[in-house]
Amino acid sequence: MGRDVIIACDFVNAAQTFEFLDKFTDVKPFVKIGMELFYAEGPSIVREIKARGHKIFLDLKLHDIPNTVGKAMKVLSALDVDMINVHAAGTSGMMKAAIDGLTREDGRRALLIAVTQLTSTDEETMKNEILIEKPLADAVMSYASNAKNSGLDGVVCSPLEAGKVHEHCGAVFLTVTPGVRFADGDKGDQKRVTTPAQAKEIGSDYIVVGRPITQAADPVAAYKRCIAEFVD
Ligand code: C5P
Repeated sequence: MGRDVIIACDFVNAAQTFEFLDKFTDVKPFVKIGMELFYAEGPSIVREIKARGHKIFLDLKLHDIPNTVGKAMKVLSALDVDMINVHAAGTSGMMKAAIDGLTREDGRRALLIAVTQLTSTDEETMKNEILIEKPLADAVMSYASNAKNSGLDGVVCSPLEAGKVHEHCGAVFLTVTPGVRFADGDKGDQKRVTTPAQAKEIGSDYIVVGRPITQAADPVAAYKRCIAEFVD
């Protein structure tokens, strides 16, 4: 798969989600479904969006013992999404079990991506509460290496870290990057942001864009602007 823009569909229910997706008549964007929408609507929301022809990143960030994650992934594999994720903090045993569970009988599976360190966790909190003494950037690269060595396809990271992750884990190891804003846009609660064009330059494979598209006066135009800056 080449570079693409993934729209974070952070809506509270199916009605709002479909009202948004109905605006897209000539294109079928890759969309991200997160915990809020999935827990509100259940697996049917995935089936319905898939039936409309969208690719889906199911952002549920699984993190539990290997047996539980493996079995949960087996259930989720039936939804036939394109991308799904786990926390790298679950360690290599859990990540390998996730791959096993996710892989269907015909050998096909969704791309499996690891969350490294959440961007809401800063170095001080990581040190004081998770007792990781290393610099945050080193911890992120270590999680990325573990994910790669466990057979995963990539990591979620800041676009600012995408180049380093590629240097460390290779060009084909995917970087999926939220924290994207237009140069003339509102940052909202995101702190370290890049524009779609900068994310492309640094080497992100997928940008995850929420509010700059979902809250735009013209969401389709905002999406097309992301495509023009990041993909074309
Ligand atoms: O609206 P916005 O563009 O900030 O949305 C970004 C999306 O990416 C949200 O769904 C958010 O939960 C997700 N995300 C993030 N930072 C991370 C991991 C996920 O912003 N480190």
